[in-house]
Amino acid sequence: ETGKAGSERKGSVVRTDKYLADVTGLSRKEAGEALRRGRATVNGQVVLRPEEKLDERTALVLLDGVPLSYRRFTYILLNKPLGYVSSTDDPGGPTVLELLPENLRKGLFPCGRLDKNTAGLLLLTDDGPLTHRLLAPKSHVQKEYRVTLERPVTEEDVRELEQGVDIGGYRTKPCTLKMQSPTEGTITLTEGKYHQIKRMFQNRCNRVIALERISFGGLRLDGRLAPGEFRFLTKEEEALLGAEN
Ligand code: URA
Repeated sequence: ETGKAGSERKGSVVRTDKYLADVTGLSRKEAGEALRRGRATVNGQVVLRPEEKLDERTALVLLDGVPLSYRRFTYILLNKPLGYVSSTDDPGGPTVLELLPENLRKGLFPCGRLDKNTAGLLLLTDDGPLTHRLLAPKSHVQKEYRVTLERPVTEEDVRELEQGVDIGGYRTKPCTLKMQSPTEGTITLTEGKYHQIKRMFQNRCNRVIALERISFGGLRLDGRLAPGEFRFLTKEEEALLGAEN
């Protein structure tokens, strides 16, 4: 056929309403209605037109936020609000898993931790091997945080922090710190020791008063997720992390 994108193989491109009907058991009419109501997304975009085409080999289709295609693993990007604990079971407060509907929680755990009073990007998954890879020190996965300090940060502070400082018997690895104002900056680490950023600034006789993670291993908080909201990763994001679903 002419005019078709080269990547679309014959037989794998179908109308969205047909795809939805085939995989959910809804009638074609019901599937069309669900689409027009904005209940479905294809690769992260709401698709309202039933006749829109998708490639069923590669499309990630969600109905009411739940993936329809068979997924070996689940990958969820959460904008963690303050006050939640990054664990599956903690008597010290509500856990991040409680932000998900109950039917999604099973088997999921946070990939890494944010302090209870740290906000921002947290990956939740049931992919143990990937979690292991991403958190291994030798992977040097980049984590970027927006940080607000109690007192102004000097150029000497920036130099010292970027080179590495002692946080109680451990010398931090080189990092980057870009200040946007005397008390607000963005710090990028490739490691994650307990309370690392707070302890780094303590070393400089300063105090972190707000901390938000804005990126992790190529994933970014894109501003469309309010604190407490979550979404599934897109296929592109899964590929970025090296996930194989
Ligand atoms: N550094 C901290 O001090 N806290 C976090 O939650 C993450 C990095």
